[in-house]
Amino acid sequence: MNFSFYYLRKALASKKRGKIIAIEGIDGSGKTTVSTEIYSYLSSRGIPVYYSFEPTYMKIGSIIHRFLRGEIPLDPHSQALLFAADRLEHLSREIIPHIKQGENVILDRYVHSSYAYQGALLNDLKWVVTINKFALAPDLAIYIDVPPSTAIKRIKKKKGSKLSVYEHARFLGKVRNIYKLFVKKGELIEIDGTKEKDQVISNALALVCKNLKLKLT
Ligand SMILES: Nc1ncnc2c1ncn2[C@@H]1O[C@H](COP(=O)(O)OP(=O)(O)OP(=O)(O)O)[C@@H](O)[C@H]1O
Ligand SMILES: [Mg+2]
Repeated sequence: MNFSFYYLRKALASKKRGKIIAIEGIDGSGKTTVSTEIYSYLSSRGIPVYYSFEPTYMKIGSIIHRFLRGEIPLDPHSQALLFAADRLEHLSREIIPHIKQGENVILDRYVHSSYAYQGALLNDLKWVVTINKFALAPDLAIYIDVPPSTAIKRIKKKKGSKLSVYEHARFLGKVRNIYKLFVKKGELIEIDGTKEKDQVISNALALVCKNLKLKLT
């Protein structure tokens, strides 16, 4: 039996498993801002919740981080494979154990980041989807939409001119188009990330509460 499938089937079989809630968007769209607020909101109300992000800092994820910082080169197909492999490590070692305990896992980037970024990089979305086929689908995936110009302005303000390898307006435009494709397919729910921070956060919280069947307070 396929090892990954074994894990996924067992996790899905659990009735009181927690949910996977992913926050997606291009660099600088506000993912970390929104996902940490969701985490604080739920934990302060006693809802079991766990926070994580991708790429991870496990063995494979650390190679990706070195690449993103421009320290090592990586063939584009290798990038896609490493992101997919890092996700499976993340699932089997961290995400699945937590959802099995009934915790809701909030993810700052998940599988749609691979579709959007590596899909844009390789012009072969189908293959990127295939190599990620063992990744458990998120129960809710929120996409924060901002134009690349807004995102780049925010990134420069936050960390000066030292942009990572994917942080260029033309590339981020392609990434945004793929995210929008998944919004159309109904896999992602879009919120407007150009609104005031508090408004974006409360729009995201409304979606999370609806999914978890909680009263928004
Ligand atoms: N709605 C908003 N309006 C204005 N600024 C915002 C908004 N949301 C976030 N920011 C600011 O934009 C910057 C980028 O936000 P954040 O780090 O949350 O984005 P990100 O999507 O996590 O970026 P990255 O992909 O680089 O990790 C931060 O300085 C943050 O305070
Ligand atoms: Mg972030």
